[in-house]
Parts: sequence; structure tokens; C-alpha cells
Amino acid sequence: MSDDDAWVADDIYETIESIDSDGVKFAVRLQNVSRRYSLGKREIDALKNINLGIGMGEFVAITGASGSGKTTLLNIIGAIDYATEGRVFVMDVPIGDYDESFRATFRLANTGFIFQSYNLISTLTALENVMFPMQLTDKSLDEIQEDSLQLLERVWLAERTDHLPWQLSSGEQQRVAIARAMANDPPIILADEPTANLDSESAKMVRDLLQLLHQSGKAVIAMTHDSAIVRTKGARHLTMADGVLSSNV
Ligand SMILES: Nc1ncnc2c1ncn2[C@@H]1O[C@H](COP(=O)(O)OP(=O)(O)OP(=O)(O)O)[C@@H](O)[C@H]1O
Ligand SMILES: [Mg+2]
Repeated sequence: MSDDDAWVADDIYETIESIDSDGVKFAVRLQNVSRRYSLGKREIDALKNINLGIGMGEFVAITGASGSGKTTLLNIIGAIDYATEGRVFVMDVPIGDYDESFRATFRLANTGFIFQSYNLISTLTALENVMFPMQLTDKSLDEIQEDSLQLLERVWLAERTDHLPWQLSSGEQQRVAIARAMANDPPIILADEPTANLDSESAKMVRDLLQLLHQSGKAVIAMTHDSAIVRTKGARHLTMADGVLSSNV
């Protein structure tokens, strides 16, 4: 990255940080969102005309069969993928209207991702993985380190800071991933089958952490087959079937 690029990134970060979350009505709002993938001559309508509003601090659990579009929907909300039709607002910002540089920085500040397969960086320690998303902030390295240590304490991993991912159990890796998702204190947590690969005790810890995040005021959106996540106190349950989203009530 050149010095100029770094400056641009800082500039975007200031713009994004200045979003006043007090005035935001919806954490996420989708209007007539569709996603069509083209593979050779074949076209796949992964999402079909989705309308959805998720309030600040809301807990939403979405279930649905394999291939129904859950990951596609989460990736679009997280600005990793884009809608081919319709509009996507995250924190009231129409993220589809911006270029990838803005979207990448916006993502870092506003959404924390938790994946089924943890997706930690294999060459970085637990502590360094949590520090990683904080790079664009104006905090000093000492502050970043201190904040990351505190986040690891919050997921009960104070004793594992110097472990590399392969030196951690699956449940511990997922808890590092949760600490990483919390790194920039984003208002939205996106979880894609976060308990799917875990034993029952680790899965319970992950559910408890999602519940704590919800209680601390974050919007949590979880794609899951785990009925215990669906039963989270205060959760709204939606279902996906063949790219169509419906309310379960
Ligand atoms: N990049 C892509 N290119 C082409 N097709 C894709 C792409 N990503 C997803 N699809 C297709 O879109 C549909 C929805 O996939 P998606 O991964 O969102 O399903 P899912 O509900 O998350 O499934 P699972 O429960 O197995 O994770 C599937 O038919 C899939 O093959
Ligand atoms: Mg999926």
C-alpha cells in the first residue's frame, strides 16, 4: 500500500466512524434484493426479491435447507458480495452505491463476521488475530494490544493469547473468532452456522457469547441449523427456502 492509499483509507475511516448510530433506524434494510449467479450458461437465482428490516440491537436467526441462500444473504449484508437487484442499507448507508475500498473499510467498522470454519489467520497467534481488524483505527499499538487482550478475556481465553490456531481446540478457535468479530466494537454481528462444527459444550459457550453480544446492544444475525440458537431469548426466527425469505410466524 502506498502512503497515498493509506491516507485515503484513514480518510474513509473518519467518514465511516462519524456515522451517528444514535440516529440510525435499521441496522440492516433490504429492498427487493435478488442475487443471480451466472455459471457458464446456467443462471442460479440464489436470492429472490428479499425485503427485510432488522432493527438496531435485534437478534435474528435464519434457518433453511442447504443451498437455500443463507450464506449468500449474509455475505451481501456484510458487503462481501453484492445484490444484482434491489438495494442494501447497512446502518442506513446504501453500501451498493460505494466502491470496494469504501465497502472494505465500512465492513471493518460496522460488521463482525463469525464463520462456521473460524477463518483465523494460521500464521498469527490468537492475540494477533484479534488485533488484525484494528489496524485501520487510530489507536496506538499498545492500545490495540491491550484491547485485544481484554477481548480474549471476555471469551475466556486469557491463557491462550500466544497460541497459533492449530494449537487451539475448535471451540477455542471459534471463541478467538468471536473476539476478532468484536475488535472494532461493530454494531452488527454476522454469524454463519457458528456452532456447526463444535461439540455441545463449545457450542453452548458460543451461544452464550452471541446472547451476551445481543444483550450489549448489538444486532446479531445468525444463519443456523442449531435450534438452541433459534430459541435465544428475544430472537426473531426467519426461514429461507430456495432463495425466498419468510417469517416463521
Ligand atoms: N459464487 C457463486 N457462484 C455460483 N453459485 C453460487 C455461488 N455462491 C452460491 N451459489 C449458489 O447459490 C445457492 C445458495 O447458496 P448458499 O451458499 O447461499 O446456500 P446456504 O443456504 O448457505 O447453504 P448451506 O446450508 O449448505 O451453507 C446455491 O445453489 C449455490 O450453489
Ligand atoms: Mg451456507
